[in-house]
Amino acid sequence: MQTLSGKRIFITGGTSTLGEAFVKNALQSGAAVYFTYFQNQAKAQELTAEGAHGLCADLRKSGGIEQILKDIKSKETALDILIHNAALVRDHTLQNMTEEDWDEVMAVNVKAAYLLVKAFLPLMFRASRANGQAKIFFMTSRVAVRGGFGVANYAASKAALNGLMKSLAKELGKKNILVNAVNPGFMMSGMTRGLPEIVIENNLQATPLGKASSPGEVGGLLTYLCSDAMTQVTGQVLNFEGREIV
Ligand SMILES: NC(=O)c1ccc[n+]([C@@H]2O[C@H](COP(=O)([O-])OP(=O)(O)OC[C@H]3O[C@@H](n4cnc5c(N)ncnc54)[C@H](OP(=O)(O)O)[C@@H]3O)[C@@H](O)[C@H]2O)c1
Repeated sequence: MQTLSGKRIFITGGTSTLGEAFVKNALQSGAAVYFTYFQNQAKAQELTAEGAHGLCADLRKSGGIEQILKDIKSKETALDILIHNAALVRDHTLQNMTEEDWDEVMAVNVKAAYLLVKAFLPLMFRASRANGQAKIFFMTSRVAVRGGFGVANYAASKAALNGLMKSLAKELGKKNILVNAVNPGFMMSGMTRGLPEIVIENNLQATPLGKASSPGEVGGLLTYLCSDAMTQVTGQVLNFEGREIV
């Protein structure tokens, strides 16, 4: 296992299927982990009991981000890793998609990324000056590139994240901040469990291995990417996939 000893990590959506796997992995690897949750208090308590710091936030509202920053600043003087992993789906074909469906998905998936990076950059500059590097990751999806039926808002939000990531990688490279996006592939999670069985089956069959991505394995990849073993990749979408993306 890669060491994350001394790393201060902040991840949104620590209570997600992937977030939980990563938080546990990062704690075992020696990191100080701060995570947000929204409704899943039970999972947040479980992660807190293991040593992570939970912060409740509704990322549809921009106001909560100042409080998150304040809470983390009361404990840390710098931040090594920022991961925007929380995400919202409101799946409908465009004809049935309300403006609220559009706005809420954009707020949590994209606008929160912009606000979080902007809020945390001073702490990240401090980490990169002290330790040589800091890193930002956005969790993205293959539908950012491929599109998908009934997910126009979600696909657009993830495509926007990819564009934000590539631009930030250019802006922040000279400051020694790496910025990448990770597509975890099709995982069984809160987000996908409610899909019609036929859609789940089609997704599984579309992968050469015929099975879903393992959140534990994706969490392990994230742990590696956060570690000092990875110092030269930036501006990339990293695909944990067996399927073709383009
Ligand atoms: N699952 C897949 O197949 C798949 C495929 C491609 C990409 N991804 C991406 O991978 C990441 C993790 O996915 P997942 O499937 O593990 O997620 P998930 O289990 O569905 O969890 C979603 C997370 O987002 C949080 N969240 C939802 N609404 C929120 C709000 N208004 N404010 C703050 N937080 C909110 C939830 O918090 P609470 O639970 O505490 O309410 C939860 O932590 C996401 O970025 C997703 O888009 C997933």
